Amino acid sequence: MQVYKVGGAVRDRLLGLPVTDVDRVVVGATTEEMLAKGFRPVGADFPVFLHPKTGEEYALARTERKSGRGYGGFTFYASPEVTLEEDLIRRDLTINAMAEDDQLNLTDPYHGQRDLEARILRHVSPAFAEDPLRVLRVARFAARYAGLGFTVADETMDLMRQLSESGELQALTAERSWKEISRALMEDHPQVFIQVLRDCGALKELMPEVDALFGVPQPETHHPEIDTGLHTLSVLEQSSLHKQPLTVRWACLLHDLGKGLTPEEEWPRHIAHEHTGLKLIKAVNERFKVPKDCQELALLVGQYHTHGHRALELKASTLLELLQSFDIYRRPQRFEEFIAACEMDARGRKGLEQRSYPQADYLRGAAKAAREVAVQPLLEQGFKGPELGEALKRERLKALKAYKEAATA
Ligand code: CTP
Repeated sequence: MQVYKVGGAVRDRLLGLPVTDVDRVVVGATTEEMLAKGFRPVGADFPVFLHPKTGEEYALARTERKSGRGYGGFTFYASPEVTLEEDLIRRDLTINAMAEDDQLNLTDPYHGQRDLEARILRHVSPAFAEDPLRVLRVARFAARYAGLGFTVADETMDLMRQLSESGELQALTAERSWKEISRALMEDHPQVFIQVLRDCGALKELMPEVDALFGVPQPETHHPEIDTGLHTLSVLEQSSLHKQPLTVRWACLLHDLGKGLTPEEEWPRHIAHEHTGLKLIKAVNERFKVPKDCQELALLVGQYHTHGHRALELKASTLLELLQSFDIYRRPQRFEEFIAACEMDARGRKGLEQRSYPQADYLRGAAKAAREVAVQPLLEQGFKGPELGEALKRERLKALKAYKEAATA
């Protein structure tokens, strides 16, 4: 049997990037031979094994045929007769379809190296269409390598467009889609992921609520970029420039969904979009079975981001309601993430990227003032149960009034 490194490990070595995980393909072996050598099988009928010592993945060379919709619809054909070239041709992109042996001899039948040099993401063959998840993968690679100058080949975009129009993306499981979306949002250029999905018509299929934001105007005085879709892309870009975590990036993507529902006659204003957007945010969250922390933050940012922007003008009582809604006493981190998302929103405006955001420190100070109200004196005064809660609120309100006066004096 022969063993080759394949996929990302070869690609990233040639790009001079660090290689994290290594996939290997094994040509000329059977499942029985692999088991006899101590390899551990992964899954039931998937010809992938883990090395007994290193734990790295070894897959038998295989061809793939499609027998139905979605992931469960795959049948794999692995046999010792399948050649390296036959295995590589069923892969997604030419830059992912190169193999190398221990001596670093490259097998590159589909010109991956040429495309690496030309900075092109190009599909290998029509077999690309066997897995619609690849539409998301290509957009994710575009987001990752945009800084190196990579773009998607026209013919690959055409294929991605056909796949999107065919309705095949609807068959993807929530888990597979979310894995791609969440990884793409954490790349250096997450806005490119959304842009590529939009350009090939996949955004309309996957997140029509986000797609609907393009072409929706906002008032030029606050939003020099005008278009809500472009604004959303800029907010995402800022979230990456400022190294925000996934929770914040997800909230940035969804914060303005309500603006897509505003009747045209009300444009460019979007009264109460914070509230109208909530059901859309909930729908997208549920569609991809998004982790709870991301779901929660997206909903809270959707509902309260304009509060964040107007922090310095809010009455002490409104400020208190905001802090209570975030349960800042038990969930301090979540409030920090809210502040970060608001700041990214403010910076995601054309020409205003560098403007300071004093609201951030003001909100932090308010949270500190509310948290510093001590419970002990109230207990000593005999407050219990719901009355204690009310007394605590009154004291916090007093503290916030004092804070507001001092901070805005
Ligand atoms: N692959 C594919 N189609 C998919 C998933 C994977 O063709 N839907 C192939 C590609 O050749 C890819 C390899 O399997 O390079 C390994 O896949 P994976 O580990 O998911 O991605 P990498 O290319 O290694 O990239 P990453 O750095 O994102 O892990």
